[in-house]
Amino acid sequence: MPRQQQTFRRALLAAALATAASAASAQQVNVICSVQADWCNMIATVYARTTGVKINLALKGSGEALAQLIAERDNPKTDVWFGGTGDPHLQAAEQNLTLEYKSPTLTQLYPWAQQQAQQSGYRTVGIYSGPLGFGYNTELLAKKKLPVPRSWADLLKPEYKGDIQVANPASSGTAYTMIATLVQLMGEDKAFEYLKGLHKNVSAYTRSGTAPIKAVARGETAVSISFVHDAPQEKMQGFPVETVTPSEGTGAEIGSMSIVKGARNLEQAKKFYEWALTPQAQAFGAASKQYQLPSNKATVVDPNVPDFKKIKLINYDYKTYGASAERRRLIARWEKEVNSLPR
Ligand code: F6P
Repeated sequence: MPRQQQTFRRALLAAALATAASAASAQQVNVICSVQADWCNMIATVYARTTGVKINLALKGSGEALAQLIAERDNPKTDVWFGGTGDPHLQAAEQNLTLEYKSPTLTQLYPWAQQQAQQSGYRTVGIYSGPLGFGYNTELLAKKKLPVPRSWADLLKPEYKGDIQVANPASSGTAYTMIATLVQLMGEDKAFEYLKGLHKNVSAYTRSGTAPIKAVARGETAVSISFVHDAPQEKMQGFPVETVTPSEGTGAEIGSMSIVKGARNLEQAKKFYEWALTPQAQAFGAASKQYQLPSNKATVVDPNVPDFKKIKLINYDYKTYGASAERRRLIARWEKEVNSLPR
């Protein structure tokens, strides 16, 4: 074959390979997933099988996910942030890290999920909700002759010393929800006095918000401060776990989803986002034993989802406590005045 013809064929082959490579890279979405691994893996597998689009997952707690988006600001590697408490999603919106996108599906969602979208200038959306409460190990409490804690006040009793776990608010949206809830319930100074008292009884501040309920399940601690919807899964595995919500009142999260500004796979990101808002996709929460209340009104609600009507909920101010400056300030105050104290 003449040399010129050979060169031409090589060039053609290279062009074909380049096209194939770019098509393949367009067929993927990079997702930070801040719900539990089973749910993340299930949606990634189902989505890839049904659409042919690969989901590259990174599992991160809410606070860590926000930190990653901030670090990637100039060169985003993430396309969609799925799940995690709503406050850091609002902060990402405020810091211009996420994209304004008004989904045509919005009207199918509960008002709280739509409100989350409105408050962020349509840079995030509510995908689920769940109330904060306490988890406890029934056998361990009985063995230690401890009563079931029924109020925030109960958790300060000296008899629970070393028997309570809660996450660290710097990495965990669950723990930040607790601080914001207490501030709204008691006023800020009283809430910090409360947190100092609680500190004496806490054995560990975990990185992830779900670690304390898992520690309760395995008998490593008697009590946790956790989202109520994270307990049924542990119970189903045979662990002696129950939950209660505090009598003074409690807060709830609006788990959220956002598209990253500057997403490399923007078209695929939007398709995944739309899919994630459908009742069919939202049902994978309960299918993977995660029992948050789904945001699409048409999603079938599993009987394990906490009954909000039976819980005394505060009128949580998502806008105020989702503001960057407020979150930073409250966490810094917690680090300085609470976490630094000896136990
Ligand atoms: O996936 C369980 C869950 O409790 C979610 O409902 C919540 O959004 C998330 O974990 C919070 O995780 P973290 O406290 O680690 O940020």
